[in-house]
Amino acid sequence: PGAGPLAGRHAIVTSGPTHEAIDPVRYIANRSSGRQGHAIAAALAALGARVTLVSGPVALPDPPGVAVRRVESAREMLAACEAALPADVAVCAAAVADWRVAAAAGQKLKKVPGQAPPPLALALNPDILATLSAHPRRPRLVVGFAAETEEVVANAIAKRARKGCDWIVANDVSGDVMGGRENAVHLVTAQGVEHWPRLPKEEVARRLAERIAAALA
Ligand code: C5P
Repeated sequence: PGAGPLAGRHAIVTSGPTHEAIDPVRYIANRSSGRQGHAIAAALAALGARVTLVSGPVALPDPPGVAVRRVESAREMLAACEAALPADVAVCAAAVADWRVAAAAGQKLKKVPGQAPPPLALALNPDILATLSAHPRRPRLVVGFAAETEEVVANAIAKRARKGCDWIVANDVSGDVMGGRENAVHLVTAQGVEHWPRLPKEEVARRLAERIAAALA
């Protein structure tokens, strides 16, 4: 338990992609480095929060001073988030796969010469951000992300209403943000929209953590 404006607060952060099994050796996934989510977890811890980072498979070191729960699938990510409740704030930065394979095979699917590829029927995954936003133990502040390639702010405003979260951090991913080190974001709240300059992801995380501390103060 550290000092700082978030001392005594518990934060849940989701980060990275999810992997949805096709069979024991194959999966479908979203593209995500986990850089922004991990930086947010580190920045919240630096302000004194107790942080539970629920992370899909990433190639990043664990941020210092953060409890990391490693998961693979969206359903595991949701279960880990719910197990971590109660929390004062949840930041959903993970790139969760919208669909999983409806019936993952228990054994490796065989590639038989001359046979057609296996069909992949998909099932809808739970929406972690929407679930936490409507949860009986809802964190006081719930923050989501929106990666958009067009109409970035308009889509983020609609997404904030649809998901039931308090803030949306919207980023324009039409350029080279995915996997990159910088992010240009817009913070969408009930009060309006702030346009932040293009910043290193660590600096986006620091500013967001400070805003979270102010909101919970
Ligand atoms: O609907 P969309 O994927 O664009 O929404 C993005 C936001 O919703 C992000 O905060 C992401 O972490 C969250 N999300 C989630 N669970 C899903 C899909 C998205 O938490 N199944």
